[in-house]
Amino acid sequence: MIGRLNHVAIAVPDLEAARAIYLGILGARVAPPQPLPEQGVRVAFVELPNARIELMEPLGEKSPIHGFLERNPAGGIHHLCYEVDDIRAARDHLLALGARVLGEGEPRPGAHGKPVLFLHPKDFCGSLIELEEV
Ligand code: CO
Repeated sequence: MIGRLNHVAIAVPDLEAARAIYLGILGARVAPPQPLPEQGVRVAFVELPNARIELMEPLGEKSPIHGFLERNPAGGIHHLCYEVDDIRAARDHLLALGARVLGEGEPRPGAHGKPVLFLHPKDFCGSLIELEEV
């Protein structure tokens, strides 16, 4: 059902510092920061030949990654994003198998403006999974 790995997201306390590491030390292409107020994060995408890395720092008081950064103050891998062809069909398939979809279960526009959903880490080897329709 899942297709390509779209991105790995890393939560960071300081987006500029993280961009400098990927740009200056690792020599990667990094897009300019982009605020996503409706998701409570500011992100910058590292463009690799075969996937992207989503660097994200909290935006606003109610950012959903505050708790993660409290537990991981230096930052850490936050989620993996897999591509799917039809996100509603994927959701219905997973729900029928007993997997938990976070939130209301309705796809919302993600960082690329395409519909995304998140799956409960306890059902997927301890890792938060984002599905993105492409
Ligand atoms: Co993501």
